[in-house]
Amino acid sequence: MSEQGGGPHRVLLIVSGGIAAYKVLEVIRRLRTHGVAVRCVLTRAGAQFVTPLSLQALSEDKVYDDLFSLTDESEMGHIELSRQADLLVVAPASADILARMAAGMADDLATTVLLATDKPVLVAPAMNVRMWEHPATRDNLATLIRRGVSVIGPSEGAMACGEYGPGRLVEPDQLAAAILRRLGLESAATEQDTAPKQSAPDGGLPLAGRRALVTSGPTHEPIDPVRYIANRSSGRQGHAIAEALAALGAEVTLVSGPTQLPDPPGVTTVRIESAEEMLAACNHALPVDVAICAAAVADWKVAERAPGKIKKQQGTAPPALELAENPDILRTLSARGKARPQLVIGFAAETDRVVERAVAKRQSKGCDWMLANDVAEGTGTFGGDDNAIHFVTADGVEDWPRQTKRAVAETLARRVAAHLGAASHDEAAE
Ligand code: C5P
Repeated sequence: MSEQGGGPHRVLLIVSGGIAAYKVLEVIRRLRTHGVAVRCVLTRAGAQFVTPLSLQALSEDKVYDDLFSLTDESEMGHIELSRQADLLVVAPASADILARMAAGMADDLATTVLLATDKPVLVAPAMNVRMWEHPATRDNLATLIRRGVSVIGPSEGAMACGEYGPGRLVEPDQLAAAILRRLGLESAATEQDTAPKQSAPDGGLPLAGRRALVTSGPTHEPIDPVRYIANRSSGRQGHAIAEALAALGAEVTLVSGPTQLPDPPGVTTVRIESAEEMLAACNHALPVDVAICAAAVADWKVAERAPGKIKKQQGTAPPALELAENPDILRTLSARGKARPQLVIGFAAETDRVVERAVAKRQSKGCDWMLANDVAEGTGTFGGDDNAIHFVTADGVEDWPRQTKRAVAETLARRVAAHLGAASHDEAAE
């Protein structure tokens, strides 16, 4: 039984329309096993697929489905309903409810509660593959993620409509694990995660149930409130990696410095400015199975950040900036002992003796894999579309052909999936 602050953890589960709605019954059962209190809100479309009675029986609580019920309002106002939970979960989240959430609509109890809440929200989309891939859905999801909504899935596989592709609701064990993890019930989450993974659900994505952390972009090191030290990094490679891992089913946290890029869909993006903030956000995202440090972190920060704007004074010498070393995030994550991700991956941007330096850097940083690239002037790697990678592991060096950053990301994501898959297979065989 999990108790915190005097009461059980509380989830408000919003069930919207979709053939996968039946799966949430199993999610409720699993959450209840761990002492989590579940209260359900059922949308009108959701009620076409699952009955209030089933939800009520499993949650052992009243099911709310009507915004304008005076009885409900007198017992439990809709604002209170949203505030009494520790976490709001929308599962299955249809294209329609995602659109209404993105638009800030409040035309039924579910959307009203979602608009009124001050609690974290997790959505588990499920819909036809064409609806999932439609630019409107992509935009809506990107908007929600930018506002801090977390997303799990969808997974890929055969769909009730006869088509194949991403759009299936994640399996109940994965959803229950993601919810428990967000409630801080880590060991209960791991228990959920492991059992069914061995049975490799049909059409399941290779990184489903895996957690990944990616750093991307530059960092900005403040000099005073208006000036900063920065470097040239577009964030394109790191963002593409986050998206590629999510496309294989991983639950991805992207910790990004300031970039011009939109947050990748299906990824939880944490925006930071300085290296110290990046390290804190990375530590917060642990535990993860794989960490990929693609950010171009500034090596130095200004030792004493000026509290006010440094004034230019006629006739006096320019101010001298004293620099201090920044934390090395890749090295720190590689040395996290028991909390070390199973796989830690870094990048080495070099202008000469690229492979030689990358081999040495892999060892000095303590990471598992190093992706080395030539960033000498004229290669167009910085800010460009393409990247030529030398892939350095303990086993040697592979030269990957020059390819787009997206293709590099997809190749890397597949290698990560193969490695983690092989590792869990080895564990099972032991
Ligand atoms: O030492 P260098 O900057 O060449 O190392 C590059 C690798 O280390 C990249 O993976 C980068 O993301 C990571 N790094 C880091 N924190 C730093 C400096 C580099 O994570 N402070």
